[in-house]
Amino acid sequence: MKAIEVKNLRKLYPKKIPLPFRKVEWFEALKGISFTVKRGELFGLLGPNGAGKTTTIKILTTLLEPTSGEARVLGYDVVKEAREVRKRINLVAEGERTLYWRLTAYENLRYFASIYYVPKREAEERIEELLKMVGLWERRNDLVMNYSRGMKQRLAIAKALINDPEVLFLDEPTLGLDVQSAIFVRELVKRLVEEEGKTVLLTTHYMHEAEELCDRIAIIDHGRIIALDTPEGLKKLVKDETIVEVRVRNYPGDNPFGLAKVSEENGVTVLRGSLDEEDIPKLVEFLVRRNAKVLSVEVKEPTLEDVFIKLTGRGLRD
Ligand SMILES: Nc1ncnc2c1ncn2[C@@H]1O[C@H](COP(=O)(O)OP(=O)(O)OP(=O)(O)O)[C@@H](O)[C@H]1O
Ligand SMILES: [Mg+2]
Repeated sequence: MKAIEVKNLRKLYPKKIPLPFRKVEWFEALKGISFTVKRGELFGLLGPNGAGKTTTIKILTTLLEPTSGEARVLGYDVVKEAREVRKRINLVAEGERTLYWRLTAYENLRYFASIYYVPKREAEERIEELLKMVGLWERRNDLVMNYSRGMKQRLAIAKALINDPEVLFLDEPTLGLDVQSAIFVRELVKRLVEEEGKTVLLTTHYMHEAEELCDRIAIIDHGRIIALDTPEGLKKLVKDETIVEVRVRNYPGDNPFGLAKVSEENGVTVLRGSLDEEDIPKLVEFLVRRNAKVLSVEVKEPTLEDVFIKLTGRGLRD
């Protein structure tokens, strides 16, 4: 039996139309996605803002019903057998807000253990084990409001493990964390899969995170899965290409060479994409003619971002 099976999942959200046009229009956030996740697998949904990652997670964790299609977790239908699903899973939601900031870490976990009817003795043992695992045992009696963002996220993960779930869902687990905390969280997630045998489905828009952690990755864009493979398999799509990254000031806004804008900071635009070597001087000439200032041109090792650019023509953070 697969841990997760998703077949032709669609989700329509009603769009708010301003008065006096009362006609309801629908926005198709998921356009029929299908994938499976094996038991013990660390599976990633990678995609830009608005791709449909959180919508997928909400459906799989029974928080939202799909418009059509089917999803099963550990063999149970997420709509018809939602109770059975909920007993066996847990979720760390995006921007976790479900901890009680006026309670200590220990009190939070004791409370959530009671919600799952974990017997008192067992709860005490599990809470100690979990707080040690996430490195918060020494700080167990501090109020959560005095925790850093990274400590809150670690506690949120401990909270999500309190019912010993077989499948754990993590929505952007390192979003907004400092570098050290993000590393800690990624190591923790790896350990959960390798040592505790959990199945993990996580979402991220950091390609290096997906690449480092995931056994397989589904790249999702505008409600569709546009590629699904191991990180190595995905990177094969760009392995023979010359990947060029250009930093430029006063970027004219487009270029005829198909490079995607991957970021823009302090007036410096970063362009990236696959380019024939003989086109490099032509690109520079094109930019300079339009009064742009080329700061650097570098040939880079292909990454998952290049796969995304190749498939969509856009950068992940666009
Ligand atoms: N409750 C809602 N009502 C209407 N539209 C919604 C609702 N929730 C999400 N959407 C839309 O559905 C699309 C997918 O949203 P979703 O939150 O699943 O994306 P995401 O991949 O998680 O994005 P992000 O990286 O920003 O978290 C977006 O265009 C979003 O605006
Ligand atoms: Mg999201």
